[in-house]
Amino acid sequence: MRFLYNILIVAAISMSAYGQEIAIDKALFNEGDSQEWKTPSFDDSSWKTLEVTRLWDDQGVAPDTRFGWYRFHIDMPSNMLQSSDLQEVVAFDLGMVDDCDEAYFNGKLIGKTGLMPGEMGDITNTFDIPRNYTVSAKDVNWDGENVLAVRCYSGGAPGGMFGGPVKVTVPGLVEAADISFSQAKVKGKDGVEVTLKSRYPATISGKLNVVVTDFENGKVVAEVTKNVKVNDVRSEKLFIPYNKSRRVDVKATFDEKNSGKSLSVAHVPHYILTPAAPASPRFNTAPIYGVRPGSPIHYRFGVSGERPMHFSSTDLPKGLAIDPYNGALRGSLEDRGSYTFTVTAKNAAGEASQEFTIKVGDRIGLTPPMGWNSWNCWGLSVSQDKVLSSAKALIDNGLADYGYAYVNIDDGWEAEKRNPEGTIAVNSKFPDMKGLGDWLHDEGLKFGIYSSPGDLTCGGYLGSLDHEAQDADSYNEWGIDYLKYDWCGYRRKHETEPDRETTASYIRPYLLMQEHLRRQPRDIFYSLCQYGMGDVWKWGEMIDANSWRTTGDISDRWDSVYDIGFVEQADLYPYAAPGGWNDPDMLVVGKVGWSSNLRDSRLTVDEQYTHISLWALMAANMMIGCDLAQLDDFTLSLLCNNEVNAVNQDVLGKQAKRDVKDGDLQIWSRPLSDGSVAVGIFNLGNGVMEVDLNNYLKILNIDNPLGIRDLWRQQDLALNDTKYKLPSHGVKLIKVKK
Ligand code: GAL
Repeated sequence: MRFLYNILIVAAISMSAYGQEIAIDKALFNEGDSQEWKTPSFDDSSWKTLEVTRLWDDQGVAPDTRFGWYRFHIDMPSNMLQSSDLQEVVAFDLGMVDDCDEAYFNGKLIGKTGLMPGEMGDITNTFDIPRNYTVSAKDVNWDGENVLAVRCYSGGAPGGMFGGPVKVTVPGLVEAADISFSQAKVKGKDGVEVTLKSRYPATISGKLNVVVTDFENGKVVAEVTKNVKVNDVRSEKLFIPYNKSRRVDVKATFDEKNSGKSLSVAHVPHYILTPAAPASPRFNTAPIYGVRPGSPIHYRFGVSGERPMHFSSTDLPKGLAIDPYNGALRGSLEDRGSYTFTVTAKNAAGEASQEFTIKVGDRIGLTPPMGWNSWNCWGLSVSQDKVLSSAKALIDNGLADYGYAYVNIDDGWEAEKRNPEGTIAVNSKFPDMKGLGDWLHDEGLKFGIYSSPGDLTCGGYLGSLDHEAQDADSYNEWGIDYLKYDWCGYRRKHETEPDRETTASYIRPYLLMQEHLRRQPRDIFYSLCQYGMGDVWKWGEMIDANSWRTTGDISDRWDSVYDIGFVEQADLYPYAAPGGWNDPDMLVVGKVGWSSNLRDSRLTVDEQYTHISLWALMAANMMIGCDLAQLDDFTLSLLCNNEVNAVNQDVLGKQAKRDVKDGDLQIWSRPLSDGSVAVGIFNLGNGVMEVDLNNYLKILNIDNPLGIRDLWRQQDLALNDTKYKLPSHGVKLIKVKK
């Protein structure tokens, strides 16, 4: 029997770049959880066979399955070991696991990703992290059977192993080389630090060479070579300064002496295109703001420049007041209409004024919301302290000076049980919701929260089902200005509804909450989150929603940003307008992690420029998803380019249309209120691309460009300067005057 299983699950033994590789695409599988299942001798002959390349939901396993184990019986031929010039470790590439896993080899734990229930922190979003584990070659039963057992936990459907066959290799010396890059500053000079170490307990030696090349002119700007000897404890670091305002390519090559083999790794370090803001006051936000009659106004004029700054207005409408120190506008206006006034900001370096209009009527959200949300960084580990620290950083880092105003708590704030009278209760991580709201409002910022029309939220916390009126009342008491209402747990109820295939069934729970929200004596931005079901963009506006998520959850990987941005949004431009926006999910720049473990976004630097540029063009909600208390200068420069943000916030409110899709080239354009057009030219391929704008002017409906401005650099380009060199996954964002 056992022999049969081996045939069944060992799909292929082949030669990889560095020796033999075993690739396995099936395993024995059982739902449930038992520590016995890690034991090699456990009798799994009654288990079923499952593919490991596809999630378990796709293979008949019930979607609400939480635990499942995969077991692999692997014959390991000793010639595999002999083919390696290191013979130290065996490496397992398990692909990915939704959501977390523990892997045991011959009964011994060899790796773990994510946290299991009951552990401190949470399980979410480790699903797209590749699992690479190793064992000592001594622990392998060569020319005999070995058992790899993988315990998986799914925090919610889908679940299981996916992302490729399980691969087993015996790495060689050069594969032990681990080259990584980080930003560094030495003696005031910006640079990139290249680190070489050994992944395995083995010494490797040879030559490390780093070449830095300027992207625009192809010139080598720095080169360093060093003889090195490292192991898994002792690493070698090379610091190479470069000019951070230019895009450079860094290539590190390690020539391993004993094997005669080489490893090369390429990297693009941070480059900052956004010019520094002047010390004198500069207004950075859209000059309009919508509010309903009588609703309290919480607004902060977004003005960059040195502090202290003084704010004033001589023609402020009656009922409003400006805080002279932080620029917060307070008060309310009872009568419908447009109120225009001038605000002046003054500091030691100068003074600036801007005309501003408040539109009192039925519409709020006249430009896409800008702010911060806790989900992409903290996931379910969010707490009031973490929210407050990001809110303070929003002010201290100057993000509030660029219009980032919403501070939104996502899932994870709710208690386990409602209060006896049915009102929603908060968990111990959120001691004072009202206090938090008051603090934010004093600063002219806004307060957002999350719930679900279902009994439970996505994270398994309490939803609003059957308590919609009470929850809307609580939101009012706490001073909530934004509600993200996430379908998730409603799925179970929806499945039982006779009209579940109809649009009406999708609208129903959202309309119900809308009625309760709109009854509150304050404006609550209503953000639907149901991943685009029932073509939400066609009816979101009808139920007076202010934005609607058009996609599933974003992650900090290129394929996610690519699918969500460049594939799924292309046809949605007709559905965005002031007051109602398509929401392609939150930003994934900076330190994210969906848990208490944060990491730098896995998007490359070029991909981050592309992400922000496309979201600006798409008039997307600009909700920052990273920890603002740990913001680096590059991320700040991405988020605080006033000319790029002005595209997102343009008062015409037109979402960009994709005009050109030509192989790896895409061009998106968006008409702006000043008669010009914002154009994003994107290289979605893996190589460098040269594009001549002239070839596309006709398609873009631009007969005769009167001016071209590079928005990231904030520089006018010569009219004949139309040939752009774009890095892989990179962008040129321009504004063309017609
Ligand atoms: C998902 C939603 C995410 C986040 C999460 C919280 O359904 O799309 O953005 O809110 O739930 O559990």
